[in-house]
Amino acid sequence: MASVTSLAASVHQRVADALSAALPEAGAADPLLRRSDRADFQANGMLALAKQLKGNPRELAAQVVAGIPAGESGAVIKEIEVSGPGFLNITVADEAIITTLAARAADDRLGVPYADGAGTTVIDYAQPNVAKEMHVGHLRSAVIGAAMVEILEFTGEKVIRRHHIGDWGTQFGMLIQYLIEHPHELDHKRGTDGESAEISGEEAASNLNRLYKASRALFDSDEEFKERARRRVVDLQAGDEETLAMWQRFVDESKIYFYSVFHKLDMDIRDPDIVGESGYNDMLEETCRLLEESGVAVRSEGALCVFFDDVKGPDGNPVPLIVKKSDGGYGYAATDLSAIRDRVHNLSADTLLYVVDVRQSLHFKMVFETARRAGWLDDKTRAVQLAFGTVLGKDGKPFKTRAGETVRLVDLLDEAVERATAVVRDKAEKVGLTEQEITENGAQVGIGAVKYADLSTSAVRDYKFDLDQMVSLNGDTSVYLQYAYARIQSIKRKAGEHRPAAHPELTLAPAERALGLHLDQFGEVLAEAAASFEPHRLAAYLYQLASHLTAFYEKCQVISADNPVEVVENRLFLVDLTGRTLHQGMALLGIRTPERL
Ligand code: ARG
Repeated sequence: MASVTSLAASVHQRVADALSAALPEAGAADPLLRRSDRADFQANGMLALAKQLKGNPRELAAQVVAGIPAGESGAVIKEIEVSGPGFLNITVADEAIITTLAARAADDRLGVPYADGAGTTVIDYAQPNVAKEMHVGHLRSAVIGAAMVEILEFTGEKVIRRHHIGDWGTQFGMLIQYLIEHPHELDHKRGTDGESAEISGEEAASNLNRLYKASRALFDSDEEFKERARRRVVDLQAGDEETLAMWQRFVDESKIYFYSVFHKLDMDIRDPDIVGESGYNDMLEETCRLLEESGVAVRSEGALCVFFDDVKGPDGNPVPLIVKKSDGGYGYAATDLSAIRDRVHNLSADTLLYVVDVRQSLHFKMVFETARRAGWLDDKTRAVQLAFGTVLGKDGKPFKTRAGETVRLVDLLDEAVERATAVVRDKAEKVGLTEQEITENGAQVGIGAVKYADLSTSAVRDYKFDLDQMVSLNGDTSVYLQYAYARIQSIKRKAGEHRPAAHPELTLAPAERALGLHLDQFGEVLAEAAASFEPHRLAAYLYQLASHLTAFYEKCQVISADNPVEVVENRLFLVDLTGRTLHQGMALLGIRTPERL
């Protein structure tokens, strides 16, 4: 395993060295290098620098050029010239492109380095609520969170997953009381051996739905039941055994359902990582005591509150974060503050990442600030919300069924798979897919489409859930990327005895250079996506990669009797590395790449 210095980094280094040699008084000045259409790279740093030091930018640029060996055999830079008011246009040598890519190809990690100073990140994601249906918001958290887990782990970060499920709170009083009064409502059919028969996620969801509706109806209509339900909350919080046992049945039933959805999503969620709100129950009292003793929280109208200068309600009065209600109950905030203490002190995290709906941003802003005041977060330990926007329907309004109900996640996923299967089936005969392959690919394409649509726009933006667009073969979709990958595999199968091999001595066509330079950026894009918690940067990179590949196919025949063997091998090498990069990148996004499509 060896990490590879990218061409951009090599060029940057050479220009920066020449710049500080030409202008020692500027210190370590940034040449501001970026990819460019005119040449391979453009450096703009001379402009601002010359201005600052009252020099002539074109003269400075010329001095830099004079300090850089170019065009010699083995040199990374083939051409460097001054242009416009003092830019540098830089072209790298074909040989350097292929040599660098060959080093990437020789490495399992495609030459991607581990990040400097990797630490421990706790990611809070995929957090549905017990006894409730999952909705599209839970989908976003799960999909974005899972991608962040993979991306960060790939850069060498230690990642601890936490599924902060909603498994605690007053609504359980009502549910538990109802189940105690109707004890057979959650009984599962017994198998002949007396073992409880396994039930499907679908059945679990419908059991829970039924119970939820029935108990709610009773709660709203029967004052005496309401009172019994209230007392049940007290029993639950006091840890009464019978009450806890009933509560556990709701949690277990819900987990059957959650796991079925996560399975459908092709997502690896593990039981020990599910630490719901109930998991912090034992810490709540201490959290409040610490906040009160340190003066971070104060009593106000019987409640324990934290106030903020900049958080005011519509009437101009300060709106506090309530950590303990006047009736003694603890809420969402006390749980999150306790979770911070646990994650920082027991899990030794230095980054806490919360993949949660943007509509909870004020909550997290107040919770993080409270934790800072209490000394649980500081310069070395940060908390960040990766906030995501709302999922909208095709009409641009919040996503609802025609009857105006929230859309069930499972129905959506099933429909996506159905549509994708139809797309796959259309081409199946030509590719020679078996019925089983059609089903498998349909699932991988359908789930991939849903994930990719979520991951390819900046998370904080609302996005339209449009299945027609998602499974379209053209445009920025996962299907397009999956076809690009499958096409690569097909070319490799057709290559016969030809093997991919790098030939740095060859002169490259423009489309080969463009593809090669893009391939070389993989590590940098990953580092950016990891540092900014923006998986959409990786998605955009992969889409561009597939587009470069398409352009390359148009201009450059890979397997042709007219091509010298070295050209065939070198093109196969580029195609193969593109395939591996696509596969790796898609895997980080949680999307499969079928071999034949
Ligand atoms: N269960 C919550 C919901 O469905 C999301 C939990 C977010 N995480 C947290 N630590 N508060 O809205």
